[in-house]
Amino acid sequence: MATETPGQETQETLSNLLSETRRFEPPADLASAANVTADAYEEAAQDRLAFWERAAERLTWAERWDTTLEWKPPFSKWFVGGKLNVAYNCVDRHVEAGRGDKVAYHWEGEPEGDTRTITYADLQREVAKAANALEELGVRKGDRVAVYMPMIPELPIALLACARIGAIHSVVFGGFSASALKSRIDDADAKLVITADGGYRRGAPSALKPTVDEAVADCPGIEHVLVVRRTGQDVAVNERDVWWHDLVDRQPAEHEPVPHDAEDPLYILYTSGTTGKPKGILHTTGGYLTQVAWTHHAVFDLKPETDVYWCTADIGWVTGHSYIVYGPLANGATSVIYEGTPDTPHRGRFWEVVQKYQVTILYTAPTAIRTFMKWGDDIPAKYDMSSLRVLGSVGEPINPEAYVWYREHIGANRCPVVDTWWQTETGGIMISPLPGVTAAKPGAAMRPLPGVVADVVDDQGESVPNGGGGFLVVREPWPAMLRTIWGDDQRYIDTYWSRFEGMYFPGDGAKRDEDGDLWLLGRVDDVMLVSGHNISTTEVESALVSHPKVAEAAVVGATDPVTGQAIVSFVILRGGAEESEDIAAELRAHVAKTLGPIAKPRQILVVPELPKTRSGKIMRRLLRDVAENRSLGDVTTLTDSSVMNLIAEKLPSAK
Ligand code: WT7
Repeated sequence: MATETPGQETQETLSNLLSETRRFEPPADLASAANVTADAYEEAAQDRLAFWERAAERLTWAERWDTTLEWKPPFSKWFVGGKLNVAYNCVDRHVEAGRGDKVAYHWEGEPEGDTRTITYADLQREVAKAANALEELGVRKGDRVAVYMPMIPELPIALLACARIGAIHSVVFGGFSASALKSRIDDADAKLVITADGGYRRGAPSALKPTVDEAVADCPGIEHVLVVRRTGQDVAVNERDVWWHDLVDRQPAEHEPVPHDAEDPLYILYTSGTTGKPKGILHTTGGYLTQVAWTHHAVFDLKPETDVYWCTADIGWVTGHSYIVYGPLANGATSVIYEGTPDTPHRGRFWEVVQKYQVTILYTAPTAIRTFMKWGDDIPAKYDMSSLRVLGSVGEPINPEAYVWYREHIGANRCPVVDTWWQTETGGIMISPLPGVTAAKPGAAMRPLPGVVADVVDDQGESVPNGGGGFLVVREPWPAMLRTIWGDDQRYIDTYWSRFEGMYFPGDGAKRDEDGDLWLLGRVDDVMLVSGHNISTTEVESALVSHPKVAEAAVVGATDPVTGQAIVSFVILRGGAEESEDIAAELRAHVAKTLGPIAKPRQILVVPELPKTRSGKIMRRLLRDVAENRSLGDVTTLTDSSVMNLIAEKLPSAK
């Protein structure tokens, strides 16, 4: 989610307050058998394109490419002339290699005991049937298909069926409203919606179909709505509606996968960003699959024969597209998919799932980790999680204390934690430790992966030296990069390629420490300017979370007559910590000691919850409204808008 115009407060370089000295060496057994060693950095540095060619060779191509990269800045084409079928790579080729009985997905519904096991042979049959069904509905190569579904096996099946026939899917997260769904259907000019009656959420069926009915009421381009029966709840059946079980189940179980061009579109995924209408991020076929498959193999050290991999994201976000569907399946992995929330029917559900399926690799988000910290250490301690060997984090900067908690309470101080930086736009992981190579620092994404050329630059676009801070940029094209914004090349150029000449600007601040390792500092518009110093919200939040009583913190800069901006903090206490009279003073002193007096918050408010987007990111903009005593801006992307009332009650001066 890059911004249209970076905030002017980031004109100077970011100050560099945090000092972190802890290091975690890779476990020796993991390092000695790692899929990727330190040589990969060297090889990619010597010949970057040859490196990505070797990564592409891990896939099965119907026709080999003739040009690896065609770069007409800022438009790239990868593996030009090559042809492949993504669904064939993710499914059929594993069956043909004799691995049809291998489990592709252990699916765990939210209601306990509601499970399905899907092997690669099952997946091949189901994808073939779904592809035949789409063709019967008149869906052709290049057509757009909107997908609005709960986390059920038909969701990855629907995506693979689209990929198989070359239709472009556009997944809209199941928590979005009818108007959000409609605007995305309209922007992509979709002709089919795939949905379900509902899904399970927090112990009860939650309807989806009525939202689709409302969204498509005024979408004449939608020819059909294909509906999976998941919950069995009552739904209106309209003229355009077709039941999945009526149509898909009777289809032939074979479908010939035609090869598609490496640059044929694979999907559109909308990202809301901070301003303006959502951007339809366009990803294509060959380069995308190459990078997601290679990074999944490298960053998680995936051993398809023995690992059980679980990414807890929703497939509605890019994390789910790249690291539940395309990357893991291309690698022939066995994955877990969980339908519901982590607290249903109890707060140990995630750990119960890890224990049940003997999960070896877990990939989740800082927001979830901080929630588990808040719930208390005793909950994960009840489960046997000795199967785990690699832990991953994505979505926001991970506070060092949350990282250390994750390592200790989930990973038994044994599993490396990989903090992976990337975006919807990058398609795949860009900056991350390698679990068998990197001596990781808690809270740092460390180094660009082999084949990725990222840098930290100052306002003029000059590289900052070690110890400096500024803007993250990517200097060279990468295979899974977005190709454009759907239907709006100019906006693609303006948003990502105009801030710095010839460089991709993701919209994040970063610093490079004395060793040259990278620390991501969140969106540049979240940076504060206090008495002439640029201070990142991430660093103050991490300082607060390093206090034993704090589980989660959000920091904003509020206008202040004396200092320009003053730091206002909202904190959630850890399970068991008492809210005492002098907690604010104690925390202010702690921040002053950790980061220096300049970073001491003017105000600290203990709150029960923080406002988050549906993908789990803290919405600092709303907290700034509260801190500056304004009425609240747009709250439509909030998961739960009542949270803001709870917070406003805590602030006596707030409206
Ligand atoms: C933004 C992208 C990547 C999939 C999920 C989010 C932030 C993401 C990290 C990380 C610090 C991170 C950035 C980025 N972000 N991962 N490891 N450390 N920040 O995809 O919704 O497109 O969001 O999330 O600010 O720009 P997205």
